[in-house]
Amino acid sequence: DAAMKNGFPHFMLKEIHEQPEALRNTILPRLSKGLPDFTDDQIPDDVFTSCSQIHIVACGTAMHAGMAARSMMEPLLRIPVTVSVASEFRYEEPLIGEDTLVIIISQSGETIDTLAAMRLAKNYGAAALSVVNVKGSTIARESDYTLYTHAGPEIAVASTKAYSVQLAALYMIGCRMALVRGKYSVPQATEFMKKLLNAIPAMEAMIAQKDSIKALVTHLINKSDAFFIGRGLDYAFSLEGALKLKEISYIHAEAYAAGELKHGTIALITEEVPVIAIATQEKVFAKTISNIREVKARGAFVILITKEDAVLDRGVADIHIRIPKIGDRFTVFPIAVVLQLIAYYASTGKNLDVDQPRNLAKSVTVE
Ligand code: G6P
Repeated sequence: DAAMKNGFPHFMLKEIHEQPEALRNTILPRLSKGLPDFTDDQIPDDVFTSCSQIHIVACGTAMHAGMAARSMMEPLLRIPVTVSVASEFRYEEPLIGEDTLVIIISQSGETIDTLAAMRLAKNYGAAALSVVNVKGSTIARESDYTLYTHAGPEIAVASTKAYSVQLAALYMIGCRMALVRGKYSVPQATEFMKKLLNAIPAMEAMIAQKDSIKALVTHLINKSDAFFIGRGLDYAFSLEGALKLKEISYIHAEAYAAGELKHGTIALITEEVPVIAIATQEKVFAKTISNIREVKARGAFVILITKEDAVLDRGVADIHIRIPKIGDRFTVFPIAVVLQLIAYYASTGKNLDVDQPRNLAKSVTVE
């Protein structure tokens, strides 16, 4: 056990540190002249050109990777991209068919609801492309196409590196689709991939800041509730941040679209409820900042994550975490590290079993 942890006190911290390498392992073998290329994965381009909609299906953290991918892909591809929770989707009568590319995301490749959802999708005539980490798993074997993520074994129950490589794989799919569907020129697709690769040193930069993240959790560990807010992609990222905190620190956390807060939920904001706000999307930056002012006015302790060049008035946030300046679509990678470290240190700060949280299993094969 100690040897497997490679000097780290827990698998989760080790796996957080492994993310840059996991991303390189997932991305680099599929780069050809700077462009995403799935020839070795045996995924032909007609999978990407023949569909008129995408439906993403997964559970838990994998579903959150899908939510972020949706917010990235739909404006890029200009086709409908929908995300469903597998345990719901499998009992629905989805509006999918031969025109649909169903993307199934699963670390283990064995989650029973996800598998059942994929079988349903295939019965409807959809093409099933799985994004799976475990080689030879059931979902990988039964899907029409598989894009393996190369995170290596993930031991901690709370998923970290599997999430970021799922995102990397989905971003590559989005880029390849944009290219072959004529939404991107070759230079645009090359530029996209460059920015994706730039996310790797940005993740490393945030891992290097772990001590300052450890210090800030003192503001969280004696609280029973927290909010994560953001707009657009930042909202999709905050869903995963809230889940991570709940899973391992047992602090009740809720992710909210920042602009929706004032429609009721802001009633829950008090001095006892810290708010983790994410504002990395240029388009909605000013709007998110005004939402932060609203929670601040109700006494919330605000931990704000922005890009390093964001210009802020004094007093907007109590703690300001700066991620490197990278493309707006790609901020999820360094942000994921920050949110994972917040959850990790909140859990260890409460002396909880961070790798084996109560009631949770790594792979859920019950319905
Ligand atoms: C369980 C795990 C989660 C995981 C989910 C989906 O609930 O505790 O961490 O995100 O299953 O697992 P999968 O292997 O399909 O990605």
